[in-house]
Amino acid sequence: MNKLNDWMKSKIKNWLLFLVRRLDEKYQNVPSIRLSSNSSFNRKLKIPLLFILSITYLILYFMLLMQIGISLKNGIAVFFVLSIIFFFILFYISKQIKFSKIDTDTAILASFILIVSLLLFQIFDKSLSPIAFPMTAFSIMLCILVSLRVSFIYIFVMSIFISVTNNFSNIISMIHLVGCLTSIIGLKEIRNRSQFVKVGIKVSLSMILFVIVLYLFNIYSLEEVKYNIWFSLMSGFLSVLIVLAALPVMETLFSRTTNIKLIELVDFNNILLKRLMVEAPGTYHHSLLTASLAEQAATAIGENSLLARACAYYHDIGKLKNPEYFIENQNTKKNPHDELSPSLSGLVLISHVKDGIALAKKYNIDDIIIQAINEHHGTSIIQYFYNRALEQNKELNEQDFRYPCQKPTTKVTAILMIADSVEAISRILPDKNAGKLREVVEKVINNKFTDGQFSECPITLADLVKIAENMTTTLCGIYHARIEYKDIEKK
Ligand SMILES: [Fe+2]
Ligand SMILES: [Fe+2]
Repeated sequence: MNKLNDWMKSKIKNWLLFLVRRLDEKYQNVPSIRLSSNSSFNRKLKIPLLFILSITYLILYFMLLMQIGISLKNGIAVFFVLSIIFFFILFYISKQIKFSKIDTDTAILASFILIVSLLLFQIFDKSLSPIAFPMTAFSIMLCILVSLRVSFIYIFVMSIFISVTNNFSNIISMIHLVGCLTSIIGLKEIRNRSQFVKVGIKVSLSMILFVIVLYLFNIYSLEEVKYNIWFSLMSGFLSVLIVLAALPVMETLFSRTTNIKLIELVDFNNILLKRLMVEAPGTYHHSLLTASLAEQAATAIGENSLLARACAYYHDIGKLKNPEYFIENQNTKKNPHDELSPSLSGLVLISHVKDGIALAKKYNIDDIIIQAINEHHGTSIIQYFYNRALEQNKELNEQDFRYPCQKPTTKVTAILMIADSVEAISRILPDKNAGKLREVVEKVINNKFTDGQFSECPITLADLVKIAENMTTTLCGIYHARIEYKDIEKK
């Protein structure tokens, strides 16, 4: 019987490893569901990677040693086990990415999650049951905030730790592995936070099913199954609670913008979008059309379309401060620029970027959107007021009429810059046929390119050609020619 059990255990283990490999293959080409910019705390602290690794190693060493008992023999054994684990992880990472390119934020985040979950596991192991430990919560967070592969590394390390603390038995690790894999399969479909409840139910059910399978293989008695079903339910339930409570905190702390956060940002119930709709309706409609152009163009070159949409919705929120100074909000009212000098008008226009950043910070909008606000005009010139000023004074400094901002540093902000200008120019075009619209798009892209606005961003000429093609098609869809219906002659 024991031989049969061992055979079954090894079969289950092999099957799970096969599933892990298949999942990795399936998900590795899917764009990451995590977007990030540097976290605010690490920008100041600049913690070196070696320091993070050393601290994590030491904490894990003492935690493991305390778990199995402090002695010289155990000390040496733990040293070897941990060193081998670290060696394999670093070897695996070095095959994927250069060490100099590892962002320390990710290392801190992964180490933090690993240490917290190990502490929590010890509490559950000693006071309740290792099965009730909500390991899924931590694998979900790593998958959403970092990547699927880092989540797998976490599951691998935790499985070893759980095995070591359970007399080298793999049963508990396997139950948690089933739960973690089930949660990762369900993650792709998540569009809002409440859907984590569904994932939690699936996790509990898969763990319960696996416990029953273990009973059928005579690994658990009926009494143990009853308890373990309750502990499996508890694990799924606690995982959902932890993800719902900790994910928004982690997103803010580590300046990560997940797709879930982006979906929340593009919701029209957002207070800033509501304000834009009421206080600056012209800018609001300009932002909607810019978003349509940017979203399609981002899809065309394989960039995150949801991010492009969110950036476009918020790019001009700075106009909320003085909406009447921007042409799209002027309607039939008097133009306030008539009473200002061209240089003062230029300053008012330039200030909408600074005001937008201030407003976004005030409303806790993500860094990635603030970056888009800062980069959407780059160092472009305000041509209209520059030309008006030239009429009055030929000795002008061109720099005074340029936006003093950052040029686009990402493909998405470059798309936003193009879409913004294309929308503004095509809106006032008297004849909106396909040829004229194509002319506008190509002219905008050429002007921005020759003006050096894309000099700090990785956009290629091939990308620009695709963007031009795509934006022309989208514009033709927006301003499609109306077909004249002729009266049907009645016979
Ligand atoms: Fe703008
Ligand atoms: Fe704009």
